[in-house]
Amino acid sequence: MSPASITNNLETRFIGQRVIYKPRLTSTMDAAKREAQQGAIEGTVVITDEQTAGKGRIKRPWLSPKGSIALSIILYPSLAYLSSLIMVASLAVARCIEKVTGLKSQIKWPNDVLVNGKKVCGILIESDVRGNIVDYAIIGIGINVNLRLSDFPEISPTATSLSDELGRDVSQLDMIRCLLAETERLFLASQAGESVYEEWRDNLVTLGKKVQVRSGETTYKGTAESVACDGSLLLRQSNGSLTKIVAGDVTLRE
Ligand code: BTN
Repeated sequence: MSPASITNNLETRFIGQRVIYKPRLTSTMDAAKREAQQGAIEGTVVITDEQTAGKGRIKRPWLSPKGSIALSIILYPSLAYLSSLIMVASLAVARCIEKVTGLKSQIKWPNDVLVNGKKVCGILIESDVRGNIVDYAIIGIGINVNLRLSDFPEISPTATSLSDELGRDVSQLDMIRCLLAETERLFLASQAGESVYEEWRDNLVTLGKKVQVRSGETTYKGTAESVACDGSLLLRQSNGSLTKIVAGDVTLRE
């Protein structure tokens, strides 16, 4: 894959107009962070074929072999739009999976994308905020595209890939170009005051389900009742109380 194959005639104003490609990286997040700290232009994308130390949420490792997509997008949103990045990114992935493969996907709060109940994509958002100023935000997207999950028994019970679901390989380039265009469309729409919240909420597989949520050192059990506009989860616990959870990891209990 070459940066030019990604950027040529890419229908975006800024996301993906500059692409930094390396065949192998520890993590695109770390490389993107270095770029952002040096003032990279907004929309710069760092992409690799293979990560040797991919980072997941809650400090978990992320398996990112050849055949998967691993990219990070550098943005400079204002603080008001930071929480919408979770919705922007997961919706962009869900839309592109459908556009490029025809597969239907669902979002597991806050931003895992599932196909047929198994995880196909993970999203990590890292930002540096000082006071009211966002120095940078980085959206990291990892998608299992052309992987045989039987080769990865450590994740195969809960993960899948687009090729396993379809029974054929998928164009990584089509997927990447779609992701960049769709992320920009949704990012600009949210900044123009259009809500991405309703579409994101309607794609959540989590709502109405009995769940267990791990948030920091605390584990909550209850029913995922709804989500607030800032993306946090509203959990109804068995004692009737409604708890607002800003970040966490959900396990569906049914
Ligand atoms: C998760 O579900 O825990 C989030 C996984 C995020 C993985 C992507 S792959 C591209 C970017 N680089 C990383 O090291 N992590 C993110």
